[in-house]
Amino acid sequence: MKKQTNIIVLNKVNKSFPLAIGGTQQVLFDINFTIQSGEFVSIMGPSGSGKSTCMNIIGALDSATSGTYELYGKDITTMSADDLATIRNEYIGFVFQNFNLLPKRTIIDNVMLPLMYRGITIDDRIRRSREMLRLVGLEQFENYFPPQLSGGMKQRVAIARALAGNPKLILADEPTGSLDSKMGNEILKFFEKLNRDFGITIIMITHEFEIAQYSRRIIHIFDGHVTYDGPVPKSETTLLNSEKRHKK
Ligand SMILES: Nc1ncnc2c1ncn2[C@@H]1O[C@H](COP(=O)(O)OP(=O)(O)O)[C@@H](O)[C@H]1O
Ligand SMILES: [Mg+2]
Repeated sequence: MKKQTNIIVLNKVNKSFPLAIGGTQQVLFDINFTIQSGEFVSIMGPSGSGKSTCMNIIGALDSATSGTYELYGKDITTMSADDLATIRNEYIGFVFQNFNLLPKRTIIDNVMLPLMYRGITIDDRIRRSREMLRLVGLEQFENYFPPQLSGGMKQRVAIARALAGNPKLILADEPTGSLDSKMGNEILKFFEKLNRDFGITIIMITHEFEIAQYSRRIIHIFDGHVTYDGPVPKSETTLLNSEKRHKK
């Protein structure tokens, strides 16, 4: 059997934000879960439930107010900003709803950009970026600019960029949120392939059950609490009932 390792361990993670009027707003409450290498997980829940906040902590873009978080066996809680940047760069590829491409740089420049900080020669950066563009089926567009591409193509460029650094983990926050359903399905099928054929761990945020069905596990967050954590249920009712149990 394939060896499973916990790559993400959240233990009683709480997160509060200071409010402009004084005091704080607590957004995450005692979040506990572990994710193993090779999983394809959705973090699902209604808008405002704390999904992106949770994702930012998982991606070492933000830190918990209390509790502990281990990423690839390293305790993130006490790490310096520099060390966090190194860890992100080494392990994680990010994909966002709005693609986050630089509109005035060519497609290949966009894909190459994260490789700049890795001490790789320009020739190798170009070679690697072309390979990734081929993987997402956009090799013939390397000299175009992002505004010339459709939404689905832009998201494929963003995925090529995320993959260029050879990440073990992809974090995708509402990756199909700006796409029509046909383009969205293509992106989701591509995530399935990356997970299945390359063993890349995928954590995807979504508020839609239809989209979460592409993954194999759902962590359901409601009002900052995990109310369900398990395999994708046959119907969304299971998740909605978990919210109701929490409200009681
Ligand atoms: N940087 C921040 N400062 C203050 N409040 C925030 C910040 N980020 C998120 N929040 C608040 O946390 C709650 C959850 O937000 P978020 O994690 O973005 O939810 P979701 O991604 O599930 O829609 C919201 O009430 C939001 O206003
Ligand atoms: Mg969000």
